[in-house]
This record gives sequence, C-alpha cells and structure tokens, in this order.
Amino acid sequence: MTGRFEGKTALVTGAAGGIGQVLVASLRAEGCRVAITDQDCSAVEADASFEGDLMEAAFCDALPSRAVGALGGLDMLFNNAGVIPRGDITTQTDADFDLAYGVNVKAPFQLCRAAIPIMAAAGGGAIVNTSSCWGLRPGPNHPVYISSKAAIASLTQCLGRDHAHQGIRVNAVCPNEVDTPMLRSGFEARGLDADRAIDDLNASVPLGHIASAQEIVDVALFLASDAARYMCGALVEVNGGKPVI
Ligand SMILES: NC(=O)c1ccc[n+]([C@@H]2O[C@H](COP(=O)([O-])OP(=O)(O)OC[C@H]3O[C@@H](n4cnc5c(N)ncnc54)[C@H](O)[C@@H]3O)[C@@H](O)[C@H]2O)c1
Repeated sequence: MTGRFEGKTALVTGAAGGIGQVLVASLRAEGCRVAITDQDCSAVEADASFEGDLMEAAFCDALPSRAVGALGGLDMLFNNAGVIPRGDITTQTDADFDLAYGVNVKAPFQLCRAAIPIMAAAGGGAIVNTSSCWGLRPGPNHPVYISSKAAIASLTQCLGRDHAHQGIRVNAVCPNEVDTPMLRSGFEARGLDADRAIDDLNASVPLGHIASAQEIVDVALFLASDAARYMCGALVEVNGGKPVI
C-alpha cells in the first residue's frame, strides 16, 4: 500500500514524548521524511534531528528553514510539544507561566510564522497544532496550562482563516486524557500509582479507556492528509465520548 505521505516532508516538535514518538513513526511508516526536534532526540529515529529548547526564540525561528535544508521541503508542521504546570493559580510561579506560554503558545507562533512563507512559496501545506479538550472547556486546577491551550486553539482558528487562501490548512487536535508520560508524571507527583490511577480514569470514559497515543496521532494524521483538504481552523476533540466536567 502506498502511504498517504509518500514524498512528503514534515517537522515534528516534542518528538521524544509519548505522542511525538508515535507521530514520527506513523508518518515515516506512511512514506514521509521527518525532521524532529526535542531536548533529547537520541531515542527517536528520524531523517533529521535538531535538539534544542523551544524556549529559545532563535532556535524556533530557524527550525523550519533548517528542516527544508535537511529534507528539501516542508509540507507539514506538527506543533506537538507541550508542558503542563499543575495546580491552581495560587501555586503558579511566573516561571510556570512563562514556560507554559513559551512552549505551548510562543514556540508554535514562531514556528508557524517561519513555516507559513515556506509553505506559501511551495503552493501550500498543512499545520497541525496540539490544543486540548481543556483548551476548549476548562477542567479544574490547571489555569496556566488550560489558558495556554485556549490560546493555541484561538491561534489555530486565526491562522486557519488567514492562510487558507495560500493553500495552507491550519487545524488542531484536542485530546482529552492520553496515556503518556505527561499524564503519568502528574499521578506520580501526587504520590499515586499511575497504573491504578489510569484504570480508574479508563472507567470514566464512555468508550472504556483513555486514549492511546496512536488514537490521537491517527486524528492528527487525518488533519494533515488530503482527506481533510477542506478543513481550515478546525479544533477536533478526541475524547472517547468523555466531556470535560
Ligand atoms: N497526555 C495527555 O493527557 C494530553 C492531553 C491533552 C493534550 N496533550 C498535549 O499533547 C502534546 C504531547 O503531549 P504528551 O502527552 O506526548 O507529553 P510528553 O510530556 O510525553 O511529551 C512532550 C514533549 O515535549 C517536549 N518539550 C517540552 N518542553 C520543551 C522545550 N522547552 N523544548 C523542546 N521540547 C520540549 C518534551 O521534552 C517531551 O518530549 C502536548 O502539547 C500536550 O499538552 C496531552
């Protein structure tokens, strides 16, 4: 079977994370050549790796053209990296705020700003941002994370509208809980057994389990694919039927 992304090129942030690793492997399995970035890329096979910190503006500004240099083009950008400071506002430091908004909002802003002219010159492209169900309807006690995810959702809608005329589609995947290190570290920080906590969470999802990384990646790939060719600025919730309460 010919892959949907045969001959295509992509840049993936947060490539060493729970969702990122599956995203990179899935793109490559479908014929895409993939440039990746994360703080440590050593565990991830890719066609080009750029290790660095998304909090550094110069690093973000340069990444799309570095990807073009390595791959010969840039058809897709996946802004997948994210961080989640936990706790209500009284527990949140300025550093928590700066980190969440830096990684979850400012880096995607800088990467989109640099990638869009490249894609426009090539006749189009697809950008998939990662928001969250919580970015659309707030859950409890994560105001910094949640408001950053609302900001990336809004940015997605703005760019989806502004750049459709250039053949660039910008959409976002909005997961509810996904079984990745991000989720597990939250339970561990609270002194809970992550496996048992995930069993409890599974029971709260109408489909019977929280998402696997692959279940999120499959939707992100759909948004990047030609099957979603008429979608611009969409915020797609992937939640197993579980509403935010
Ligand atoms: N896991 C969930 O339940 C869940 C739910 C909704 C949305 N999301 C979103 O999905 C995306 C992927 O999350 P995940 O669950 O795979 O998390 P993860 O923690 O497993 O992976 C996140 C990756 O981002 C990278 N990253 C963080 N800060 C960085 C920085 N300053 N510079 C470079 N890289 C940096 C990390 O090194 C890590 O590899 C995130 O945007 C997250 O907010 C996750």
